[in-house]
Amino acid sequence: MIVTSSSDEKLARARTLGAWATVNYRTTPDWDKEVWRLTEKRGVDHVVEVGGPGTLGRSMNTVAAGGQIALIGVLTGFDAPDASLFPLLARNARLDGIYVGSRAHFESLNAFLTQHQIRPIIDRTFVFDDAPAAFAHLQSAAHFGKIVISLP
Ligand SMILES: NC(=O)c1ccc[n+]([C@@H]2O[C@H](COP(=O)([O-])OP(=O)(O)OC[C@H]3O[C@@H](n4cnc5c(N)ncnc54)[C@H](OP(=O)(O)O)[C@@H]3O)[C@@H](O)[C@H]2O)c1
Repeated sequence: MIVTSSSDEKLARARTLGAWATVNYRTTPDWDKEVWRLTEKRGVDHVVEVGGPGTLGRSMNTVAAGGQIALIGVLTGFDAPDASLFPLLARNARLDGIYVGSRAHFESLNAFLTQHQIRPIIDRTFVFDDAPAAFAHLQSAAHFGKIVISLP
């Protein structure tokens, strides 16, 4: 797994959790070229795309032949991407939109987590009355992992 972030501190933590390579997208703006180099021009099988239009072009440059890009988030906005779609075609790659899931999906996800004893990384938990602070923490982008609001 290759992880990107603007924070070297977060990337160091990602490596302790199993990332075999990391790229700081702020200090390495051409991070797609770096991923291409790291994978010896093979590319990656799966891209988890949370940036959306502003990052999709570089994600398409990093995907391997026959690979898949899962479009999960649009943190760079809702505009149309200005990138060429040609890399998708040339690599027989797929672009799949993913918008949350059903209750059945959530239950099978939780069963999988339990069965394989996977514990999600929780950054901080806020009580419900502190929900505005939880959103401010999310906005600060200082978190690593999930921010939880516990219900009374
Ligand atoms: N489709 C769905 O079902 C679904 C489900 C859950 C979440 N989402 C969406 O997915 C997105 C991410 O959620 P999350 O919980 O993973 O958020 P998160 O924990 O805050 O992670 C966001 C990641 O995106 C990176 N990032 C932010 N802006 C970026 C940019 N301009 N260029 C490159 N990378 C950038 C951040 O990098 P840094 O490390 O530098 O901060 C961070 O690694 C959100 O838009 C959320 O609404 C969608």
